[in-house]
Amino acid sequence: MEQVVNKSLLSFMCEESDNAIAVYNPVNEKIIGYVPSLSSADIYERIAKSKAAQVLWQQKTAAERSAVLKRWYDLMIENADDLAYIMTVEQGKPLAEAKGEVTYGAGFVQWFAEEGKRTYGDTIPTPAGNKRLMTIKQPVGVTASITPWNFPIAMLTRKAAPALAAGCSCLVKPANQTPLSAYAVAELAYQAGLPEDLLIVINSHSSVMVGEIFCNHEDIKKLSFTGSTEVGRALIKQTADTVKRTSMELGGNAPFIVFDDADVEAAVTGAVASKFRNAGQTCVCANRFYVQDDIYDSFVDKFVAAVSKLTIGNGLEPGIVVGPVIDQKAKGSVMKMVSTAIEQGATIRFGGESLPGNFVQPTVLTGVTKQMSIVQQEIFGPVAPIIRFKDEQDLIEQANDTIYGLASYFYTQNINRAFRIAEQLEYGMVGLNEGIISTEVAPFGGVKQSGFGREGAKQGIEEYMNTKYICLGGM
Ligand code: SIN
Repeated sequence: MEQVVNKSLLSFMCEESDNAIAVYNPVNEKIIGYVPSLSSADIYERIAKSKAAQVLWQQKTAAERSAVLKRWYDLMIENADDLAYIMTVEQGKPLAEAKGEVTYGAGFVQWFAEEGKRTYGDTIPTPAGNKRLMTIKQPVGVTASITPWNFPIAMLTRKAAPALAAGCSCLVKPANQTPLSAYAVAELAYQAGLPEDLLIVINSHSSVMVGEIFCNHEDIKKLSFTGSTEVGRALIKQTADTVKRTSMELGGNAPFIVFDDADVEAAVTGAVASKFRNAGQTCVCANRFYVQDDIYDSFVDKFVAAVSKLTIGNGLEPGIVVGPVIDQKAKGSVMKMVSTAIEQGATIRFGGESLPGNFVQPTVLTGVTKQMSIVQQEIFGPVAPIIRFKDEQDLIEQANDTIYGLASYFYTQNINRAFRIAEQLEYGMVGLNEGIISTEVAPFGGVKQSGFGREGAKQGIEEYMNTKYICLGGM
């Protein structure tokens, strides 16, 4: 962490002890720091503080809350280089990409600083002359978020910024692999004037224990989770006893479809961007490629040529485009999917090597069929399986044949086909002639077992507000 200029961003770090969680650099598995591991008693104490702080925060005007969020945004941008460095060292994504995530993450803070001022209620035309009907929006109260290691800053701000803008408080549990970025970004919120009890970062050796407390505590009124469908299912079950409001941004299995009338060059650019962003470790990464018969060879040749140019290595070094995967477990899972696909009949067209450490060579598999297990699993690594298709209707059935429904992508120059396909894809998000769709101004979220709720956009703040109906009688 020697390169961080603003040392106050690291003031949360602690010494090695039984009550400390070690954080590793995925490039070399060296320990880069420790953060405190909290006990259940510590967490209960913080929930009580969060509750007390929230009562005062909701009494502020939206403009007062907005001013704090705007200062937080400014500080994130001013400290973008330090935040990006911290992220690259603990998460592995290349520095330029990490800086992109800082800007993306700060974008949520800026966006919700504004949206907090627009949480309008309604007046409703009355059905009775002596009554007047209206609604107001109110903060849900204390909220909890569980955020993943693949976007350590953007997933935090995507949840905390709307919560705070709405007048809620927020307890955040970042992944134990990447807590440093979360603490650093919270530190900037405090420097911006946010009372510390409104945004509390929690880590523990037992993530399960934190999840159980978040789900079962009566004072936590809302849980937002980004992570796997498997964990999401368990959290949904656990929140049933307190009938807690939840939003779930879960796994994906994005189809990336290239029709024979597509601009092949544009499709290749989009495919590389979508597949290899964050070494293939995003929920919205292209997971399986469908390429129509007539342009199959042309697309595959150009795609392989582009993939072969991707530089892989330590993201702190200039020019690196693909960093390591997060740890050995992740690497083992990706390599196993590749070897199973080969056993089932796929061919390695490029890559496939297990490189030293946590690196996986960008890999292109051809001869993939719908029966292969790699088509039904979320790969979460830099591996692109390609399936050849002929018929549009068969393609739609294959693309929708999954429990997931987060992102999908397709390339065509035909306007009729564009609308037809966009409407038929059973996904929360569709990229048409575009491989990168995430932005704070559009609603991010899935259907089917990819979850529910929307983050970002005007919808994002609704997740943190209750609608209250007020009926005025005797008018
Ligand atoms: C995710 O992978 O969960 C988020 C990806 C994004 O925001 O683009």
